[in-house]
Amino acid sequence: MAQYARTKGSIALITLTNPPVNALSSAVRKGITETVSRALNDTQVKAVVLCGENGQFCGGADIKEFAKPMSGPALVPMIHAIEAGEKPVVAAIEGIALGGGLELALGCHYRVAHAKARMGLPEVTLGLLPAAGGTQRLPRLTGIPTALELITTGRHITAQEALKLGIVDKVTDGNVVDAAMEMALSVIGRPLSPRRLSTLSTPPLANLDGVFEAAMAQVKRRSRGAMAPVACVKAVRAAAELPYSQGMKRELELMGTLMSSGQAKALQYCFFAQRAVGKWSLPNGAQWNNSRPRDIRTAGVIGLGTMGRGIVVSLVKAGISVVAVEMEEKQLDLGRKEVTGILERDAKRRGVTAPLHLISFALSLQSLRGVDLVIEAVFEDMELKKRVFADLSRVCNQNTMLCTNTSGLDVDQIASVTDRPPLVVGMHFFAPAHVMKLLEVVCGPRSSAEAVATAMSLGKRMGKVSVAVGNCPGFVGNRMLKSYMDESVFLLEEGASPEQVDQALEEFGFALGIFKVGDLSGLDVGWRVRKSSGLIGPDVNPTFPSRVRQGRRYCPLPDLLCEQGRWGQKTGRGWYLYDSAGGRVARPDPEIQRFLQDYRLRYGIPSRRISEQEVVERCVFALANEGFQVLEDGMAAGPEDIDMVYVFGYGWPRHRGGPMFHAAQVGLPRVLQRLEFYYRENPDIPHLQPSALLRRLVGAGSPPIQQWKQYIRSTHSQL
Ligand code: NAI
Repeated sequence: MAQYARTKGSIALITLTNPPVNALSSAVRKGITETVSRALNDTQVKAVVLCGENGQFCGGADIKEFAKPMSGPALVPMIHAIEAGEKPVVAAIEGIALGGGLELALGCHYRVAHAKARMGLPEVTLGLLPAAGGTQRLPRLTGIPTALELITTGRHITAQEALKLGIVDKVTDGNVVDAAMEMALSVIGRPLSPRRLSTLSTPPLANLDGVFEAAMAQVKRRSRGAMAPVACVKAVRAAAELPYSQGMKRELELMGTLMSSGQAKALQYCFFAQRAVGKWSLPNGAQWNNSRPRDIRTAGVIGLGTMGRGIVVSLVKAGISVVAVEMEEKQLDLGRKEVTGILERDAKRRGVTAPLHLISFALSLQSLRGVDLVIEAVFEDMELKKRVFADLSRVCNQNTMLCTNTSGLDVDQIASVTDRPPLVVGMHFFAPAHVMKLLEVVCGPRSSAEAVATAMSLGKRMGKVSVAVGNCPGFVGNRMLKSYMDESVFLLEEGASPEQVDQALEEFGFALGIFKVGDLSGLDVGWRVRKSSGLIGPDVNPTFPSRVRQGRRYCPLPDLLCEQGRWGQKTGRGWYLYDSAGGRVARPDPEIQRFLQDYRLRYGIPSRRISEQEVVERCVFALANEGFQVLEDGMAAGPEDIDMVYVFGYGWPRHRGGPMFHAAQVGLPRVLQRLEFYYRENPDIPHLQPSALLRRLVGAGSPPIQQWKQYIRSTHSQL
């Protein structure tokens, strides 16, 4: 709704009232339409100020209304009526003016912002474009390059930047409504036509074609198949080339295509899923809203390798004092240099001082005596981790929480050597830990509600998306990844090349193909895990290694590669060739082609042409199939949790919603049918056998993803 008041004799003050962010629900649109019309018709009123209650101007469209048929006045004519009116309207922007909120402000003749306000057109992140004139008015105000950047990225800007870009006319530290009223009084009687953005032309720009071509190339490169950024460029181009009314038609047309696309649905699903995963619960009834997290002020990190360094940075940036412990001087020095460098570069970029005073470095666990929480990030070796946790039990205060960053070991086994299993949880970060947003919080069967609550909330403080997962080998993300990785190497055996598989997966939208990811993180890592899990051992024939291990199909190609010293980027050679050790640019390697041909010949595997469709289906459906099994086993609370793990931790394309959402979008009967087909063809690959939950869902008529939980028959759910 919108409240109407007349103040200072001649000013109508319209206040949007729809907590918490004054979203433009149909009731609010109706309220604005009516109050604006009242102000324009009231002869006493000479100017109007538009503001929002509770310190927020307007958060934009009400996303909850997206799924419903449109009711109430439309946004476009409402904004047009404000702009076309014969009385100056000043937007008083406090808190946020986002999406439709900023479009509303752009329809006003003047804009005053509070110094702490933030603005932006984030529609692109929901698979849409600013379709209430945003793509047409903003370029006329700021010029094309700025509008292109803001609209295609959805970036939020501060009031100061908005002032610099000409989006607002004034910034105040004081009361923004008072400042807007002052401005309103001062502009009464001034001509309004130069302030009506829709009537202006975009500022002239040399080499218009070149600018748009470059922008299009950039969004295509960045967006990995997402449609919305491309549509945004097209809409801004319409602002540059067409009169406003035709530009608006183009904006509407492009919006129509996006609205009906699966991508907008996927991105909106992600928007809600990201919020839903914070609402964790445990089988004993403890959950996010009845369990209190501890206040963590000091933390210890053990192991300053790849992961420990990033974890220290994340903790320090969240304002937590950290004691970082290594076992040897050289590693400690390397770690210190790296951590200091990251923090200093980050501080320089943000124009602040690096919080180096919050870190101390040590070579003994004794230094962890007084910390509130410890995160262990030593080598992935159960015996070593057990030794470390037993030592921590002795060294740390009775109350210190003990967390492990293991990427898949049994958290309960680690907890069992301590004197405090309820205070042990897994905090599984992703590399590089100061960049990647995902945190899997592994709830062991004995982890207390307080410990889970603390790890979840600490993750949030570090800017992570924390997802509670059960304690099984590989947890959720790495457990599912195994079937995806296995499929990719089986495809190599059958005739594909690493670059062909990677290209198909990158075209699907993955940030990097699976073989490039392997080269980047080091092929030796998985090799060691396979050795320690008994898949590689003295009983394996070194010249003719078996293709069946532990009763299922096994591909020895990655092991053979590692034996040749091809460990990926670090050795300059892996599935691809690099210029030097540590090189980053992957080139196909003819030696790998020969190696694969020899291998197929030696094992008598006929090489066949493998289509892009088969690559994507076998990798992606195998991933989703394991996801169904994860749900059935009670290791993830719902499909949203799995999808957020993949979106934030594994480079899954957000515009495809996550593997479970993707399966729903493709159609569960189709996924089932393709898995049945591939399993018939490959009866020695158990993970292609369709999961019971998938069959049950198809049998129930493929209910919407939000209802899947009702069909899970887990008797031992951990969440
Ligand atoms: P890393 O080999 O880079 O670093 C391990 C560090 O721990 C080394 O610097 C080593 O000197 C130190 N260390 C070993 N024993 C120690 C002890 N007793 N006291 C103090 N320091 C000790 O290993 P990375 O990759 O950082 O992995 C660490 C843990 O994180 C492993 O459990 C791994 O599975 C897990 N992880 C790794 C990810 C990755 O992408 N590398 C991703 C997520 C989890």
